[in-house]
Amino acid sequence: MSYFGGFVGKMKKLKSLLALLVLLASLFMFGALSSMAAPKFNANLNVNISSIKAGELVTAKAGVQNADPKESYQYKFVWSCNNWQKWGVINDFSSKSQVSLRPYTPGNYIIHVDIKDSKGNIITKSVPFKMDLGWDAKLSTSVPKRIIGETVSAKAGVTNPSNRMSYSYKFVWSCNNWQSWGVISDFSSKNNVSFTPKKQGNYVIYADIKDSLGNVVTKSSSFKMDLGWNASLSASVPSNKTGSTITAKANVTSSLENGNYKYKFVWSRNNWQSWGIISDFSSKNNVSFIPKNSGKYEIYADVKDKNGNILTRTSSFNIVTDWTAHNPTVNRTGSAPGSKVSITANPSKQLKGGQYKFVYSYNDWSEWGVIQNFSSNRYASFTPSKPGKYTVYTDIKDAYGNVNSSYNSFTIKGKLVALTFDDGPSNYTASILNTLNKYKVKGTFFVLGSNVPSHSAVIKQMHSQGHEIANHTYNHKNLTSLSASQINAEIQKTQNAVHKITGKYPVYLRPPYGAVNARVRANIKMPVVLWTKDTRDWQVRNADHVYRQAISNLKNGDIILFHDTHASTAKAIERIVPYLLKNGYYPVTISELMSQK
Ligand code: NI
Repeated sequence: MSYFGGFVGKMKKLKSLLALLVLLASLFMFGALSSMAAPKFNANLNVNISSIKAGELVTAKAGVQNADPKESYQYKFVWSCNNWQKWGVINDFSSKSQVSLRPYTPGNYIIHVDIKDSKGNIITKSVPFKMDLGWDAKLSTSVPKRIIGETVSAKAGVTNPSNRMSYSYKFVWSCNNWQSWGVISDFSSKNNVSFTPKKQGNYVIYADIKDSLGNVVTKSSSFKMDLGWNASLSASVPSNKTGSTITAKANVTSSLENGNYKYKFVWSRNNWQSWGIISDFSSKNNVSFIPKNSGKYEIYADVKDKNGNILTRTSSFNIVTDWTAHNPTVNRTGSAPGSKVSITANPSKQLKGGQYKFVYSYNDWSEWGVIQNFSSNRYASFTPSKPGKYTVYTDIKDAYGNVNSSYNSFTIKGKLVALTFDDGPSNYTASILNTLNKYKVKGTFFVLGSNVPSHSAVIKQMHSQGHEIANHTYNHKNLTSLSASQINAEIQKTQNAVHKITGKYPVYLRPPYGAVNARVRANIKMPVVLWTKDTRDWQVRNADHVYRQAISNLKNGDIILFHDTHASTAKAIERIVPYLLKNGYYPVTISELMSQK
């Protein structure tokens, strides 16, 4: 109004400009009506809220300024909540300029009004407002003892309640993050409840408080419930021997009146290799059991309360057999090869259902064998065939499968000799092998590399039957007349020829003619073996002569030189081997002879 007043005042002062102004005004109005459909009216919207609490009445009134009295205006009212998340038409175009609504949920509202004149000109106005819930809720829990079985009570309340509203309450509990849960009371007017937790854990009580408009406020309260009792286990092991009685007792310490506890006892041996239930859940809190096997034992006690809560306690102990294996008794008819050895297994006590196994080893397992597998026979015997150190082992098993072992050692005395054969293999070598095998003795063959490829079968036989293959150079040259590289070639070619067939390189070298000097020795990287007794069988091709040469002045450790390239030698060997065995000499390989020196 003050603006118009000002304007009129100025017009009075500027009469000279009146005509111009009238002209300008009529030009302006003519232009506005003809080219721009701008409404000639203005509007406002007033929103009246008695309280910002949801559910309260909101009235909206639209008004038209400088209204044309001949005009009839129409009004459309729309509300929206939280940016059109929800909305509704209150009143579609009608002459009613005032509406009311009751928003039931809290949020940011806008009331929009479209005001339309008869020419269809529309002006839109909007007014925002906010509705709050208008009330809040609270929850309090009472946990007098934080022990399962005790009653927990919870009470929910409303702060700033509206007297136009009614409230209902729902209570839910959850334990250990919803691992278990339950509804204590569904929506009702009851605002206090109680419940009794049965399992230990971390609890939350939730209260949903709902007003009569359906708005829900959730409150929660947390607390922890303990078991309220504890258990212990004691095992009494008067003796850690099999067959003795072990007792176990579980004890409960409790602040609860009557836990109605049940007990389960289980034993396990060697980490559940074997196990058993001693007693399944019963009111008996002490048990006994008798371990039959040695090992590491564990007793488990599961203690369960009336609500199903279980505490497990364990106790460990070791059990050994109530018997041991004494050293086996060894009885020998003599100390030479071929004399019978009797062995008796010696459990420290008489075993009902005992079983006995006997094994021998020769020279620290260089050979071994099972004399007798598990059987009820406590006695066994075997006949050592050659001189050396023997050990007999007894495994004794009782009726429950417990095994204890023991051993005893003795030496079979005898003179050792090595039968060595040079210059082969030849067509007579197989015959010599047959004789050695017949008497179960071993020889050593110093082979010429040049003979090896053409006698590969006999080389294979030597190797597989346990005879020793040694190196006698490739071409049987006197090494003292050769250069270092020639010496090396003579030796290496034979090494390779043997390895190609047997997969194994010879260990020992015997130079042709036994010819060595310092220079030759410096070029040989393997042990050189000569002989202590020369039969000169290459010179006198007579079996009887070879036999006599071999056995005359024989002594322990002799290395006898033969050549497996003569029929007479092969024939002589057939007599020599039985003679040696009969006279306490045992033929072994060079390696065996060296190992026993
Ligand atoms: Ni030779």
